[in-house]
Amino acid sequence: MTIALPKGRIAEDVLAIFKKIFDEDFEFENRKLILKKAGFTFLNVRNWDVATYVQKQAADIGVVGYDVITELNSDVLELMDLGLGKCRVSVAGIKGDESYKNKTQIKVASKLQNIAKNYFNKKGIPVEVIKLNGSIELAPLVGLSDVIVDIVETGNTLKENGLEEKEVIMHSSARLIANKNSFSVKKKQILEIIEKIGQVHGT
Ligand code: PRP
Repeated sequence: MTIALPKGRIAEDVLAIFKKIFDEDFEFENRKLILKKAGFTFLNVRNWDVATYVQKQAADIGVVGYDVITELNSDVLELMDLGLGKCRVSVAGIKGDESYKNKTQIKVASKLQNIAKNYFNKKGIPVEVIKLNGSIELAPLVGLSDVIVDIVETGNTLKENGLEEKEVIMHSSARLIANKNSFSVKKKQILEIIEKIGQVHGT
């Protein structure tokens, strides 16, 4: 069974859950990207790539944020909400400035282009989405965009940059996903993992 995990905190949390279940230490050594133990192969993958590994069956299952699956419209099975990495995807802008609401076309900076586009399209508001790869909060501060669509977790980044959350688009958390073919071939094993996770990890 091959499991793709998103590098960082979520991977550590998931490996800690596996440690509880199987009473074995699961830890990626140094800069190694593969960890083989107790019949599992864990892959240390960038957050944005987990769904690709699973969709293409390079991994049977994986853990990825609901925001990412939504943005990529990934063709995978969503099996379980792990309740980790809880955050919101929100529209945010300069504190006290609501002028974006009066624009004929809103300029939005985001790395979640599709989520941003769909949100404003559904409201019938013309939108130009400017794709950025990080530090999104900078865009409205220097006039690159009117607002941003970004992940908000604690809200500290917004606050420290004089921004505020204007509209919540969606709530997100880490989901256990599976490749469709793997799920039919390895259904028993995958269901067992889900059951065991449920026993040791409250969401
Ligand atoms: C994410 C997100 C915000 C920040 C929100 O950025 O894009 O910038 O976290 O967290 P907070 O509400 O707890 O402050 P990330 O750290 O992934 O870096 P990025 O700038 O590369 O997107």
